[in-house]
Amino acid sequence: MTQTLTLARPDDWHLHLRDGAMLKAVLPETTRHFARAIIMPNLVPPVVTGADARAYKARIEAALPEGAHFTPLMTLYLTEETDPEDLAAAYAAGLITAVKLYPAGATTNSASGVADFARVQPVLERMAEIGCPLCVHGEVTDRSIDIFDREAVFIDRVLDPIRRAVPGLRVIMEHITTKDGVDYVRASPENLGATLTVQHLMLDRNDMLVGGMRPHYYCLPILKRRDHRDALLAAATSGDARFFLGTDSAPHPTHAKESECCSAGCFTAPVALACLAQTFEDAGALAALEGFTSRHGPAFYGLPVNSETLTLTRSDSPVHFPAQIANGADPVTVFTPGRPIYWSAP
Ligand code: DOR
Ligand code: ZN
Repeated sequence: MTQTLTLARPDDWHLHLRDGAMLKAVLPETTRHFARAIIMPNLVPPVVTGADARAYKARIEAALPEGAHFTPLMTLYLTEETDPEDLAAAYAAGLITAVKLYPAGATTNSASGVADFARVQPVLERMAEIGCPLCVHGEVTDRSIDIFDREAVFIDRVLDPIRRAVPGLRVIMEHITTKDGVDYVRASPENLGATLTVQHLMLDRNDMLVGGMRPHYYCLPILKRRDHRDALLAAATSGDARFFLGTDSAPHPTHAKESECCSAGCFTAPVALACLAQTFEDAGALAALEGFTSRHGPAFYGLPVNSETLTLTRSDSPVHFPAQIANGADPVTVFTPGRPIYWSAP
């Protein structure tokens, strides 16, 4: 028996689209299902000024598939040189929706990120004044800290001090991966939210490492233990409006993933909603899916819920998804969760 589920059209509150040929290849995979997305600025070189954001937005709009209804919500990449006036002007003009903080060296293309957090305090104060939210990649980069502990240590050493120093700042902890992250959000005032990815809701580190190492599950922050995954899933399905979807879909050519030193990122955009419907159904929480994919994010960002809808369909047999998408000579492997998915999106 076919079952359907109609949602207010979802948004993706954390997305990597890249540039050039890769942008053209991956963009339709998002616009097919999502109305808006927060676009990550970690290009090479990064999107650091209002002018950079304007130019990148134009390149995204030029790459949109025919007839697509999609709004890219642009971000600036925070550096120790960010000019608060340029940022404020871009925000006032509606050119950017948020600013992204990468600790220097934390992940893919983050070399220009922040090393000395005191140096960005004036910019953060300005952002609090004008209401511009800060999206945070929450991991310390200290080599002495074990990679599995980097999120928890970041909360104590960096995030909590920033939030105490600038209490009016709206902050989104992106792609949280630990119970520590969930607990920190729950204990905080309403101006702290968090996004969750598909892979961190579905997988734990055993899925990546037991019986062989699966590079397509390697992303940052890295997958954690099962009890952390359980805490994330409980948060996502709880109906708490401070938790919402940010896929962190991050395409890399298949050869860069299946390599001696694998790039970080899971390309989930094509299958994100099907995987989430399955995950929420398996958790007995399908009724909570629309809040997570379509309502909590707009509420946090002060934007309207999309008036269009998206209808998901459940089949009696598992759905087959494309294994790769074409990208010239560099195809991109699509995330597969390693369990049957009965849901699909059009
Ligand atoms: O796994 C990741 N991939 N995490 C990030 O923070 C960046 C992203 C990318 O840009 O590939
Ligand atoms: Zn990301």
